Amino acid sequence: MCGIIGCTGVENAGEVLVSGLRTLEYRGYDSAGIAYFDKEKGLSVQKAAGKIRALEEKLSALGEIKASSGIGHTRWATHGAPTDANSHPHGSARVQLVHNGIIENYAELRAELLGLGYVFSSETDTEVAALLLDRLLDAYASKREAIVALTGRLTGSYALGILFADEPDTVYAVRRGSPLMLGVGEGKSFLTSDLTAILTHTRDYLVLEEGEIAVLRDGGVLVMKEDGTPIERPLKRADWDARAVRLEGHAHFMHKEIFEEPTAIVSTLRPRVAGGLPDFSPDGVDAERLRRAERIVFIACGTAYHASLLARRMIEREARIPVECEIASEFRYRDPILSERDVVVCVSQSGETADTLAALRLAKERGAYVVSIVNVVGSSVARESDAVIYTHAGPEIAVASTKAYTVQTAILSLFAVWLARLVGKCSEARARELTEALTVGLPGAVREILAREEEIKALTAPLSDVSYLFYIGRCADADIAAEASLKLKEITYLHSEAYAAGELKHGTISLIEQGTPVIALSTEAELREKMIANVKEVAARGARVTAFAAGGETAHLAEVSDDLFVLPELDASVAPIAAVTVLQMFAYHAAVLRGCDVDQPRNLAKSVTVE
Ligand code: G6P
Repeated sequence: MCGIIGCTGVENAGEVLVSGLRTLEYRGYDSAGIAYFDKEKGLSVQKAAGKIRALEEKLSALGEIKASSGIGHTRWATHGAPTDANSHPHGSARVQLVHNGIIENYAELRAELLGLGYVFSSETDTEVAALLLDRLLDAYASKREAIVALTGRLTGSYALGILFADEPDTVYAVRRGSPLMLGVGEGKSFLTSDLTAILTHTRDYLVLEEGEIAVLRDGGVLVMKEDGTPIERPLKRADWDARAVRLEGHAHFMHKEIFEEPTAIVSTLRPRVAGGLPDFSPDGVDAERLRRAERIVFIACGTAYHASLLARRMIEREARIPVECEIASEFRYRDPILSERDVVVCVSQSGETADTLAALRLAKERGAYVVSIVNVVGSSVARESDAVIYTHAGPEIAVASTKAYTVQTAILSLFAVWLARLVGKCSEARARELTEALTVGLPGAVREILAREEEIKALTAPLSDVSYLFYIGRCADADIAAEASLKLKEITYLHSEAYAAGELKHGTISLIEQGTPVIALSTEAELREKMIANVKEVAARGARVTAFAAGGETAHLAEVSDDLFVLPELDASVAPIAAVTVLQMFAYHAAVLRGCDVDQPRNLAKSVTVE
């Protein structure tokens, strides 16, 4: 939610900042702006409402920017509408800053600054921080002390990139809550909300911790404690490469990322399989703690929450341990009942979702053992968990999550098999069969599905001129219906509802009329007859039914549906995961058909670092 970037020691800071912002655009695209030290004009600021394209147009009218350092921001509006005035950077003639996060006590600080004669040109919480820093510059001898004093006054979350007019080619950074990485290249240094934005310049980085201040100068990075003591920390090397953030011939990142699923599944699962059986001990998961678990509680948001739903089905079926799935933003305000006999599993692609992080902290406070499933190495959720199981999906750029969901459900299914073995609920033969289905069958089935793209695309035709539709399914199919419906809503703006097929008749069936599209999901082959009855119920009321099925006899389902897509042969426990690839592709083509901005749907941000 908002992305920030900064650089020093580069040849063309304007280009470096803007291309970094393009990569960070998934974090918000309400406006963008940069501040830089122009070699002739000094500290300069350019910003524009709208997508980064608008900023680029503004910059190209200015001609070449002669700068080797600067900061940049892409915004997801929280305080104030998406206007030029509310765009970052914010500040004064002496200081400019960019901010990711929310300053919660901004109203009180704003009133104080107004009283001191400060004039605001925006409605943002960020400008309050910038002008307060301006004020603190008069009270403290050094920039470091002024920044420390600023952080002492701010409540909320922030990652800040700061330029001071009297200290050219130097960028300061500080953070609390929001992520911030520092990159070091040859004679160049960077700050960024997300490593993907600097991968074309360097893969060597370190994470700025809370309570530290970074100074980017002379192409290097100095990290120090608040009292100025330097901190020596070895650089890490990112194993993602720059290709991951390029389209590589695909029309959209969402399309590219769906096509990356088979590889992502294999890279994620392979390190957790030894001798044909799952083994999560290399991830540092405490097997004893899991064996003793009375209950497993999943906590997540959005797509990651939907991945948890499917994991619940798998764990309950294979390991017979009770599972609950919680939406992070709800969980923490319900005074949840937790004990040390509970295992909490936090699922998060970014590892920075504020609600998930807050729920994780609460779970730890209450004694639960916390395992997290995270895609971004070194992210806050990962660092604060007792154990972390990394998914290896690579960077996900499209706002609508696809490959991250697929690998989350795949790794959680393997985890379920491991758990089932730990608690003695699964024979070795069955565990081997499921491991094989996940590691070989699933990526193979997903590859087959991707080869049938045209077939899937053709199924979206009924969606060109409707205003709402339903997804229905039972058990695991109700879980994947939730994700399929979310995907469609996110990127097509078409209202769709996911419903447990047997529940529809208890009220919502009143919405079915002549021509209402109903997507019927039936990968739970043992529930096929029940599902056929539900399909008949909606068809009798005029619904136009597109069915997706896996396993078992499908001829009867074909008879009662208008269209039927049969998935490749796959173990029943794994089939719902593959079905989601079809439904992601279905949503993608529906969005293209309806002329939507697939990768950057309105109002959304990929990484939601505010509560
Ligand atoms: C946002 C994104 C969703 C994502 C959710 C959780 O709402 O738009 O796509 O599923 O956050 O994100 P996480 O990074 O924690 O998986």
